Amino acid sequence: MAETLTDYEQLAADALPQHIYDFVAGGSGSETTLSRNRAALDAITLTPRMLAGVAEPDLSCTLLGLQSTMPVAVAPMAYQRLLHPEGELLLASAAATAGIPFVISTLSSFPLEKIAACGPTWFQLYWLRDRALITSLVDRAAEAGCGALLVTVDVPVMGRRLRDVRNSFALPPDVVAANIVDMVTEAHSAVPGLSAVAAHTASAFEPAVSWDDLEWLRRTTQLPLVVKGILDPRDARRVIDLGADGVVVSNHGGRQFDGAPASIDALGPVVDAVGNDCTVLLDSGVRSGLDVLRALALGASGVLVGRPLLWALAVDAVDEALGLLRQEVWDAMLLAGCADLAAVGELTTGRA
Ligand code: FNR
Repeated sequence: MAETLTDYEQLAADALPQHIYDFVAGGSGSETTLSRNRAALDAITLTPRMLAGVAEPDLSCTLLGLQSTMPVAVAPMAYQRLLHPEGELLLASAAATAGIPFVISTLSSFPLEKIAACGPTWFQLYWLRDRALITSLVDRAAEAGCGALLVTVDVPVMGRRLRDVRNSFALPPDVVAANIVDMVTEAHSAVPGLSAVAAHTASAFEPAVSWDDLEWLRRTTQLPLVVKGILDPRDARRVIDLGADGVVVSNHGGRQFDGAPASIDALGPVVDAVGNDCTVLLDSGVRSGLDVLRALALGASGVLVGRPLLWALAVDAVDEALGLLRQEVWDAMLLAGCADLAAVGELTTGRA
């Protein structure tokens, strides 16, 4: 039984083969950004308010047009069948039961249409070299009822994830990128001293993706468009000026550019640059209800949670994990004297 979201990591570590645990847990390079995410979140203080007269805080919000029971969505994460035979279908159904959005990865291991049928979803797009494939994925996502498009821009190439290199990590035969099955399958071919998923990314993803491409995407789709992987306030401003609806302040959970700042440290300047008329989500290192409050107090509209939900998936505990997170947000709001999320945004923040 888990008492906090972080407890699922050890339970999953006991249940999973080492190379799969490492693929999920790992970051890039010497994992400095990975550990910085946690250190920076832990350093944020929130000053609680007293005598607020609150017994039942209101956690609900609207995120990119979707009603959500709390300011949390499930981060897009590839290949969830690595963790559980029902993968994305199980986690998306749990998100629907919990009343929060689920983000479908381009590299999901079930077809996006099957996942979208489980509940409210957004679709995450990777910039593939094949433009026709991008158009077809965007059309399929809209057709399947995904409520928004999150385009991830921090993977021109995959960060060098040394755990995967050391493990010569490759996908098992039964785990495929179900949305793009016709594509090259080198992700399955183990090569000593290489990560096969990194090799696949290198051949499938367009490294030279640019602002022109983003403008094209904005013109191509009517869906709300959010750009994931933004850290610099100048990039954030430009994304919004170009007509996008929001940004995800993210360093990809420390898996891409090692040396990047913690997302939570990048958040404030981004919020200052874009103002209040767009959606600013945050991910990377969120592990508790308290972290959710920290992000909102620093100006986020909501957060994406990644690895803890994959750990819970591995031990068949996704409903429990989402229930635990909701309880933590509730408790933190009561202790901080917040009747609703607007009050969380008014809390005084500091750095310990
Ligand atoms: C990811 N992430 C990711 N992001 C994305 O845009 N598309 C994807 O397919 C994936 N795949 C993926 C797989 C795995 C195993 C992990 C751990 C992460 C990044 C993800 O969306 C998110 O940015 C981070 O996971 C957030 O950090 P935490 O919560 O895991 O610390």
